[in-house]
Amino acid sequence: MLLKAPAEPIPIQEISIHKNITLFIKREDLIHPQISGNKYWKLFYNINTYLEKNPENPYIITFGGAFSNHIAAVSATGNLSGIPTLGIIRGEELESKWRDNPTLLLAKRNGMNLKFVTREEYRHKEILTEFLHKEFPDALVIPEGGTNEEAVEGIKMMLNDQTKDFDYLCTAVGTGGTVAGIAKFCEEDQKVIGFKAVDDASLGNKILELTSRQNFNLIDSCFGGYGKIKDENIRFINDFKEKYGIPLEPVYTGKMMQKVFELIDEGYFPENSRILCFHTGGLQGIEGANLLLEKQNRNLII
Ligand SMILES: Cc1ncc(COP(=O)(O)O)c(C=O)c1O
Repeated sequence: MLLKAPAEPIPIQEISIHKNITLFIKREDLIHPQISGNKYWKLFYNINTYLEKNPENPYIITFGGAFSNHIAAVSATGNLSGIPTLGIIRGEELESKWRDNPTLLLAKRNGMNLKFVTREEYRHKEILTEFLHKEFPDALVIPEGGTNEEAVEGIKMMLNDQTKDFDYLCTAVGTGGTVAGIAKFCEEDQKVIGFKAVDDASLGNKILELTSRQNFNLIDSCFGGYGKIKDENIRFINDFKEKYGIPLEPVYTGKMMQKVFELIDEGYFPENSRILCFHTGGLQGIEGANLLLEKQNRNLII
């Protein structure tokens, strides 16, 4: 088995007690230095089950954008295990510029082969996937963001006796696999909130298909669009790190925590609520974000 369950429970850290609200953060980002947070759990069954069936010549193929935490995690898994990997990357224009992008550079250093496709080709990933299955019949083809049924099963490992103690379970949402796993396997009386980092109206139905449970709410947390970083986001992330010593990245966890704080201030949560936010990692993305911010002469993420 390549990916293992951790020997020690993942720490749950108190953030603040604010207006009779108790707020904790579960540090899934600490689970592995390179395969961080929800990525570890979304890959857990995908890769372990595949390797049990294909121990001879494994090959892993997946999809992602230029700053994808998932691409970083899959490339690291390949590197650590000696399994060749192929990343199908959105954006033909990146082919000549991948050295300027810390995520793609990391993926290359991890030995991942990169194939750049146009945005139009990427949009029709099902056609690409079909082609890849024909071309590489024994390969493991993992969808974008790692989200599929195995990923949802893996997310169950983020829940344990300690997480049962909370009224609200919060996570950032990209492709929806993480919030689906939390909603599917949490206790009946727990409420799940997914903080959407991407403005995608189809997410609710997609998550429902993966969970078959109606116990989750989605809250817009895009702050102007997927991957867009406002000055208020940078300020929040830097203040948060200074105050609590916990780093957040600007695409998912920073925006989620900022929105959670806003909701607390607005009185969204009833008094004495116990809230648990999952830190889903992805801190490798800070370097790429800072490069863009630097070019725009803006404050950087510390
Ligand atoms: C750091 C981080 N948090 C949250 C998410 C959202 O996870 P999902 O795509 O399962 O909704 C991602 C994407 O995988 C991510 O990289």
